[in-house]
Amino acid sequence: MSISDKIIELQAAAEAAMAKASTTAALEDVRVEFLGRKAELPNLLRGVAELPPQERGAVGKAANEARKSLERQLDQKAGQLAVAELDTRLEQDRVDVTLPADPLPAIGRLHLITQTRREIEDVFIGLGYAIADGPEVETVYYNFDALNHDATHPARAWTDTFYISDDVLLRTHTSPMQVRSMELQKPPIYVIVPGRVYRRDSDITHTPQFHQIEGLAVDEGITLTDLKGTLLTFARAIFGPEREIRLRPHFFPFTEPSVEVDVSCFNCHNGVLDNGDRCGLCKGTAWIEILGSGMVDPNVLLHVKDNGYDPETVQGFAFGMGIERIAMLKHGVTDLRLFYDNDIRFLEQFA
Ligand code: PHE
Repeated sequence: MSISDKIIELQAAAEAAMAKASTTAALEDVRVEFLGRKAELPNLLRGVAELPPQERGAVGKAANEARKSLERQLDQKAGQLAVAELDTRLEQDRVDVTLPADPLPAIGRLHLITQTRREIEDVFIGLGYAIADGPEVETVYYNFDALNHDATHPARAWTDTFYISDDVLLRTHTSPMQVRSMELQKPPIYVIVPGRVYRRDSDITHTPQFHQIEGLAVDEGITLTDLKGTLLTFARAIFGPEREIRLRPHFFPFTEPSVEVDVSCFNCHNGVLDNGDRCGLCKGTAWIEILGSGMVDPNVLLHVKDNGYDPETVQGFAFGMGIERIAMLKHGVTDLRLFYDNDIRFLEQFA
């Protein structure tokens, strides 16, 4: 067979194979088979040099044209197939975003501070309390003055508190919501106020921003006994039904009398671990401080006397606790800063 006939035969075979190829992958196989390095047509082209000089021109031209024609047809068909394949893929891969995911993707969990806040809220909702929210940027009036702090109280110092201006600051506690909520609602009032508070403090048990929950109950005939019963219920709900609490005398400018409240240690017996060692959690004392509280000072009620809070007719108690502190105690977290590092290995532990 002459080389020219061979070229025609190869071209016909290649076009037939091309016609059969129905995918871009199959088409690439055809390309390799007929135009690849080991294929016959390119081989023929390489062989042209060995032909007698008078034949070289015509045969070389025919072979070259055959190759170019095949390449053009392959490219064209590859383009068509690619478009068709993309169309079917788009059709098939269509996602119905309303269908449930399968399998369910890993979902996150609430941050331990949020979990703890909600747990505490649940306890007080169960006792009939409402939940209120207050401003983090607060006035000196609500943060200190209305809460009976005298002019020289150390918490007022700029070294302890973040001031925005002389009369505006980042609240140092949630207690400013005591007077604010009594301005908004006549007695009786039973409210808790979770929220962020700010102090110029930073070490393993202090961060400049942390969370508190304030509690306020004002009604007729409220006594310290009501405070103790309420906080005992709270302590048992959060730390276990065997807990006891004790009240120690303390001082806050806005409560009188003021008490600090301890919960019986849930890590040991009377300060001693099972192995005989001193308990590190309660430092061998059998008690752990959990919050500050007291009976609302009449001087505070006088700021809202016009709204029905006459200290001659209503009494109340207030308490304030750190959410981080409760979470640390309950879950054995030893460094407060872990709450804010966002290390997934820490966060994942609290399902
Ligand atoms: N606000 C006080 C604190 O941050 C806690 C407290 C609240 C004490 C209510 C008594 C009553 O330390």
